Amino acid sequence: MNINNTPWWQRAVFYQIYPRSFMDSNGDGVGDLQGILDRLDYLVKLGVDAVWISPIFPSPMADFGYDVADYTGIEPIFGDMETFDRLLSEAHRGGLRIVLDYVPNHSSIEHPWFIESRSSRENPKRDWYIWKDPLPDGSPPNNWEATTGGSAWNWDDNRGQYYLAQFIKDEPDLNWLNPEVVSAMEDVLHFWLRKGVDGFRMDMLPHLVEHPDFPDNPPIPADHPFRSIGLTLEQVHTVDQPETHAIVRRFRKIFESYEGDRVIIGETPLFDMAKLASCYGQNLDEVHIPFNFKLLLTGWNAGKMKAVLEEYYAAIPEGAVPSIVFGNHDFARIATRFGRQNLRSAAVLLLTLWGVPTMYYGDEIGMENGDIPPDRLQDPWADPGKGTGRDPERTPMQWKNSPNAGFSPPGVKTWLPVADNYRSINADSQEGDPDSNLNFYRRLLKLRRDLPALHEGGFEFFDPVPQGVLAYTRRSGEQQILVLVNFESQPHQLDLSPLGAGARTLLSTESGEQDRVDLSRVGLGPNQSLILMLE
Ligand code: NOJ
Repeated sequence: MNINNTPWWQRAVFYQIYPRSFMDSNGDGVGDLQGILDRLDYLVKLGVDAVWISPIFPSPMADFGYDVADYTGIEPIFGDMETFDRLLSEAHRGGLRIVLDYVPNHSSIEHPWFIESRSSRENPKRDWYIWKDPLPDGSPPNNWEATTGGSAWNWDDNRGQYYLAQFIKDEPDLNWLNPEVVSAMEDVLHFWLRKGVDGFRMDMLPHLVEHPDFPDNPPIPADHPFRSIGLTLEQVHTVDQPETHAIVRRFRKIFESYEGDRVIIGETPLFDMAKLASCYGQNLDEVHIPFNFKLLLTGWNAGKMKAVLEEYYAAIPEGAVPSIVFGNHDFARIATRFGRQNLRSAAVLLLTLWGVPTMYYGDEIGMENGDIPPDRLQDPWADPGKGTGRDPERTPMQWKNSPNAGFSPPGVKTWLPVADNYRSINADSQEGDPDSNLNFYRRLLKLRRDLPALHEGGFEFFDPVPQGVLAYTRRSGEQQILVLVNFESQPHQLDLSPLGAGARTLLSTESGEQDRVDLSRVGLGPNQSLILMLE
């Protein structure tokens, strides 16, 4: 029920499930839909509102599902359509929404559309993908670079042409300037929306359309965040083209033709905040929640975090909501990146900043990046030059202290190894411990859900505070909440008397915190965060 006229997703907390790694119900070493179904109670009890499931569609798994071979089917390794339908209705019965992944930029090289397209230059689907002739010397038509490095152009003997693949070569780019492609891919949206899914996270959205003249991309600027993944060119002509916005506006109309405020979440790795803000659409008629990758790439540093947030919040158009996300299946886990000592403070930030939070499975129990021996590497991005790729953040969920961590039955070879620390870091052993990370997350999620100031209130930084500390208020009506986050191991005593005389502690990352706080002398221990109700 929508009690205050804002769509559900504006107040929601999203939880990302990487389905291969959440729960293996049939003992084949890979997670599946039945496994998610079996764990819906865990998610309801955790207190999240919506689950985003990474791709579950038939796929040769060259990129673990992001290479889709049939957009309206279910990959047998994950189950079947009947199980998906049950998952959707059971989730809805428990009050959870289900958001699927839509991968519009590219299909699998094994998608029947691509098989037809590459079969001949006369095939009716010849222009469903981006094909170009070689230059006279046989080299690729321009310098465009794949996000995984190297040329984005791949030679096809049969057509005697290159096809474009902006991620890996097994993921040829669909041609979104072809109206037949647009219509076929819109049918995909209708298929799932008709079934009742609550929305989509859309993969590589800014990449949909390329410049029609195929000009070379310029060298990447020295301070560009994508230098860190080894890119040498700036994706000027391959990203964020005007036609992409027009296509997303069409998606949005489709979503709005269905009841229930279906949501579009965008994978939008744009680092210019004006460009990121433009993803909402000039009339807020494009993406509802464009993910902020600048935040994802900001390290654990109060000053930097504040600067990124200030720039970001200032760019958010009136009436839109920001996205807060610190981790996903492509980035090192927060326990590893931010440090274990900052795990709970990262949770406080994620769930109390202004914006729609997206959590990553296992972060609630403090899972860390796993160690992947060279002979167990799976990610196509893993190579000697790039290290272990993205496997370490994709290891199986640690459910309990038993072999295979309760993810698969003991003795089964799981698709990626279970992280060694499962004996001490697992959901089961945290269940009964009131001071565990799991129960900390549950309290925090409940607080966010119960307090309008946290899920829909205004936001303001409070200054001055010592270096290494962030302080901000969230306000809604009479409710005024102060959040303090100490990013460092140096303790502080803060004078916050401009905010009033006293406050009540709602939550602390440390146990045994006093209930009442004198605002002229607030103690903040090493790496500690406090959520206070101002009086
Ligand atoms: C972004 C996804 O998050 C990533 O996992 C995938 O490999 C690429 N897009 C290609 O689809």
